[in-house]
Amino acid sequence: MTTAVELAHLVYQYAGEDQERALNDLSFQIEEGEWVAIVGPNGSGKSTSAKAINGLIAPLRGEVKIFDTLLTEENLWELRRQVGMVFQNPDNQFVGATVEDDVAFGLENQGIPRAEMVARVTDALAKVRMTDFAKREPARLSGGQKQRVAIAGVVALRPKIIILDEATSMLDPKGRKEVIETIRQIKEEAQLTVISITHDIDEAAHANRVLVIKDGAVALEGKPEKIFSYGEELIELGLDLPFPEKLKAALKKRGISVPQEYLTTERMAEWLWTSLSKK
Ligand SMILES: Nc1ncnc2c1ncn2[C@@H]1O[C@H](COP(=O)(O)OP(=O)(O)O)[C@@H](O)[C@H]1O
Ligand SMILES: [Mg+2]
Repeated sequence: MTTAVELAHLVYQYAGEDQERALNDLSFQIEEGEWVAIVGPNGSGKSTSAKAINGLIAPLRGEVKIFDTLLTEENLWELRRQVGMVFQNPDNQFVGATVEDDVAFGLENQGIPRAEMVARVTDALAKVRMTDFAKREPARLSGGQKQRVAIAGVVALRPKIIILDEATSMLDPKGRKEVIETIRQIKEEAQLTVISITHDIDEAAHANRVLVIKDGAVALEGKPEKIFSYGEELIELGLDLPFPEKLKAALKKRGISVPQEYLTTERMAEWLWTSLSKK
């Protein structure tokens, strides 16, 4: 297996008095092709760790490796090309007058020849299912569509790693679903490594692994089912409680015994159905 991202003992502190360490001996590895969700309370260092992966900040101590290459000042620009970022606010990510111009922007910056640029834009828009919107104005799209266009802009640059920093947090449930489904598809097609920083349990549920970051270090890690079984502690871990867990907690309060393991909404409905029909 190839390691896509390796952070080893990162320490970082923003300038200013009384600043605590934003990263405090942070270490983790992400394998190529993995989808890892990073969760944690606000201010725990999630965005700072993304910035370290992308070389936007230089750690005071520790190492960042991208595909086994140590990130240095010299190779920063080259390595950064392998890492695409999508941010929280869909409205702050547009520069083009039309959707296709917008997706082309990053390619133009890289001096990609016109014919190839057109091919890549067409391909990227197809991947996020926004082909029909190529000539539209980005401002007029829904939140979910805007984030899909932002993702197309990243995909067109053909990175190997994509980092979504709370990219679904400003979207309504429909927009979130659209974006998560889009990520799932392009991840398979383009064999991407995905890092999604999120508070959304459905988004985290799609990951192969969840890392919980607290006070600038990894506090817990495991498969989503394992992390979700922490029940109400999840709120402290920076996740919204999944609906089946909320329901389980409410049933428990009423003295009804419920399964210990994590259940999806569908499994919870099945369980309710069978246990109710026994009565
Ligand atoms: N640009 C900045 N200048 C000063 N402090 C910052 C800056 N960005 C983040 N911080 C501080 O660093 C810590 C980690 O922040 P961040 O990585 O943004 O957390 P998260 O993304 O988990 O919410 C917080 O205490 C935050 O206040
Ligand atoms: Mg953040």
